[in-house]
Amino acid sequence: MTDATLAKSFLNAGEDYERFRPGFPEVAADAIVPAPVRTALDLGAGTGKFTERLADRANRVVAVEPSEQMLAVLREKLPDVEAHIGTAENIPVEDHSIDVVTVAQAFHWFDRDPACAEIRRVLVPGGTLGLLWNHSDATCAWDRACTRVAHPALDEGLTAAPDTTEQLPGFEAPTFLQVPWQERITRADYIARWLTVSSFMAASDDERARMVAELERILDTDPGTAGSDEYDLPQITDVYIYRAA
Ligand SMILES: C[S@@+](CC[C@H](N)C(=O)[O-])C[C@H]1O[C@@H](n2cnc3c(N)ncnc32)[C@H](O)[C@@H]1O
Repeated sequence: MTDATLAKSFLNAGEDYERFRPGFPEVAADAIVPAPVRTALDLGAGTGKFTERLADRANRVVAVEPSEQMLAVLREKLPDVEAHIGTAENIPVEDHSIDVVTVAQAFHWFDRDPACAEIRRVLVPGGTLGLLWNHSDATCAWDRACTRVAHPALDEGLTAAPDTTEQLPGFEAPTFLQVPWQERITRADYIARWLTVSSFMAASDDERARMVAELERILDTDPGTAGSDEYDLPQITDVYIYRAA
């Protein structure tokens, strides 16, 4: 399965993504936008799970997203947000018109250097770029076991120390923080969430059925989840804050 196939899998997502994927903690948004700004742009905005955190932090909020299905959900949920079809490599806004660009759970899909040049083009001088990723807490055994089944590449990433100093062209060295938080989730929603992950959406029906059966076996037998219909799922949000150089 190529990266392009995985990225395109979002073209068919939308309502399920909105219903089952986790949101982002306020603390993470506070770190990126500590005081209100004129204009904020959420890039790869999807259904608006992070865009909604910008609503009280900017006078004008813009969302840019290539999937019409994802954007349709965002438009309905956040009617005051200016929503545009577009990509990180071709952002449909004016030069130097944005104070803060945010990218939640999407920067890894971008063509990095052209995307960074394009983000620099739209940002005001000294503007902020905030990158966020939610991920599992590697110490939660049952969630870790499920991640190994559902998204092996993600599991490998959990044990690797984050590169907290990663340089991006045209930006100063980042400030990095981790925000731990916890989510109460039903068993049904936990399984349904995995079905919205790119590796599942791009898999064949047989492969998907095999993965779901394996997730059910883990949840039936792990001491942290066996016999329960609802779980406390620990989450960690990694936040990287860059300033345009
Ligand atoms: C995992 S989703 C994250 C959506 C949303 N930011 C969130 O946190 O819920 C990744 C998003 O990146 C979008 N995407 C993929 N390639 C992109 C690109 N080159 N430019 C902008 N967005 C892209 C996908 O369409 C998808 O909506």
